[in-house]
Amino acid sequence: MATGPQADGAASWPPFESLTAVEQTIWRRRSIRRFTEELVSPELVERLLMAGMAAPSASNRRPWEFVVIDDAELLDKLQHRLVLGRYRPPLAIVVCGNLKRAYPPPGRDFWMQDCSAAAQNILLAATGLGLGSVWIGIHPVGLFVRTVSQLLGLPRGIVPLGALYIGHPAETRPPRTQHDATRVHHNGY
Ligand SMILES: Cc1cc2nc3c(=O)[nH]c(=O)nc-3n(C[C@H](O)[C@H](O)[C@H](O)COP(=O)(O)O)c2cc1C
Repeated sequence: MATGPQADGAASWPPFESLTAVEQTIWRRRSIRRFTEELVSPELVERLLMAGMAAPSASNRRPWEFVVIDDAELLDKLQHRLVLGRYRPPLAIVVCGNLKRAYPPPGRDFWMQDCSAAAQNILLAATGLGLGSVWIGIHPVGLFVRTVSQLLGLPRGIVPLGALYIGHPAETRPPRTQHDATRVHHNGY
């Protein structure tokens, strides 16, 4: 495992094979933006949602809602409207915050962290299931929030945080961490 910081400040990376299964999945999760045409089975979609809803949330409020999109026409529209997400997956899961379920003020914005934890769980589960995925940011860009809300018919108080594009990968990217010892501070900044 890690042997601590080296003289140049960079941590030595342990051999990938020596990492635990969870660590390997974390390192293997990379943004995948090209997908085959193979559909993601309903069983796998359920597994992804179960992983998402295993996430921690402030006071266990679980303020998340998920819009699963597998309709080709809708996926085309989503792809065209999200200018930074012009890739075509066979599946997208839009992770939304339900503000009515969120932690009350002054902690309301915890919903973003709660929903981000759910989103990351889904990405990691996708990696573990051999699927490729990429997170396309929506919130807090007002234009993206309005566009996606209108496209999906989201009611007031349901805010789209991000779209997770998921499918069978048509590209591979190497596992890695981006560990940087200069970002770490001990016992104060
Ligand atoms: C909040 C958030 C928003 C992102 N939005 C986009 C996006 O709009 N388009 C895109 O191609 N990738 C997007 N990404 C993916 C990042 O570009 C990617 O995670 C980063 O380059 C690191 O690469 P990796 O995921 O392979 O580790 C987003 C990631 C996060 C966490």
